[in-house]
Amino acid sequence: MHLFTDNRSIGEYLLPLLAEGKTVGLVPTMGALHRGHLSLVNRALSENDVVVVSIFVNPTQFNDPNDFRRYPRNPEQDISILQDRMRGEDAVFHPPVEEIYPEPDTRTFDFGGLDRFMEGAYRPGHFNGVAQVVTRLFEILNPTRAYFGEKDFQQLAIIRHITKDLNIPVEIVACPIVREPDGLAMSSRNVLLTPDERKTAASISRALSRARAMRHKATLTEVKQWVTEQLSQLPDMEVEYFEIVDDRTLVPLSRWQKNKGTVGCIAVKLGKVRLIDNIRFS
Ligand code: PAF
Repeated sequence: MHLFTDNRSIGEYLLPLLAEGKTVGLVPTMGALHRGHLSLVNRALSENDVVVVSIFVNPTQFNDPNDFRRYPRNPEQDISILQDRMRGEDAVFHPPVEEIYPEPDTRTFDFGGLDRFMEGAYRPGHFNGVAQVVTRLFEILNPTRAYFGEKDFQQLAIIRHITKDLNIPVEIVACPIVREPDGLAMSSRNVLLTPDERKTAASISRALSRARAMRHKATLTEVKQWVTEQLSQLPDMEVEYFEIVDDRTLVPLSRWQKNKGTVGCIAVKLGKVRLIDNIRFS
C-alpha cells in the first residue's frame, strides 16, 4: 500500500493506471476509522483495480469550531488498519489542508433544495463544505467510483446531485449502515460518548425500529411524536429533529405516501456529542 500526502505525487501515480483502463475506487473519510468505513473499503476493494482511501478532516464542513477541534483524529492507527487490508497497488491519501485548499475555497453549490431541511437547516454551510472537499478529491484523484455510507443519508443525496449537476464522471456507490451489536450506527463520534451515554445511545436505533413497526398502525404524525417523546425523556438526550421524508426530494412528509420511498432521519445531541441515524419505512 502506498501513502501520499500531496496532490502531485498521487496524481502522477494514478494517471498512468487510469490511462491503462484500470478502475480507481475512492473511499473519502475523515479518519478515526471504524467497521463502517471498513465495509466501504471492502466493497471498493472487491469492485476496483486500485483503491484510494482519503483521510482528511475537512475544516470547511464544520459549522461549529468546537466540533472541529474535538473531532477524533488518529491517522497513524488508521494507516496501520488500512495497511493490513489493502493491496500493494492501493493507496492512502492523507493531505495537509494546503494541498486541498491552496487558497480559500469560495465556491458555493446549489443543491436543488435537498439541503432545505434536517442537516442543511441545523448545520448551516455544512453541505457546502462537504461539496467543496468531495469535488476537490474528485478533481485530484479522478476516481471511477466513490463510496459513501447511507448513515449520512442527506449527504449521499447531495453528493449524487452535485455529481450529476456538474457532470463529474464518477459512479456514486451507496453502502448500508453498519451497526454495533446493540444497534447503534457506527460513527467516528461514538468514541466521544461517556460509558453511560454509550448505553443510552442504543435507544436511538431501537426507537427507529419500533417506529417502523408502528408504520401500519399509526399516523405519520403519531410516529414522529412517539420517537421524539421516547428519546427526549432519556438523560442528556436532546432530539434536534426526527423527520420522515420522501427519499428523493428529502421534503418532510405529513402523512404516509404510497409507492414512493420514505425514510425517517434523526439527529440527537447526547451530552456534547451529536449523532445521526436513519431508517427506511418504504
Ligand atoms: O462523511 C464523511 O466522513 C465526510 O463528510 C466526507 C464525505 C469524507 C467529506 O469530508
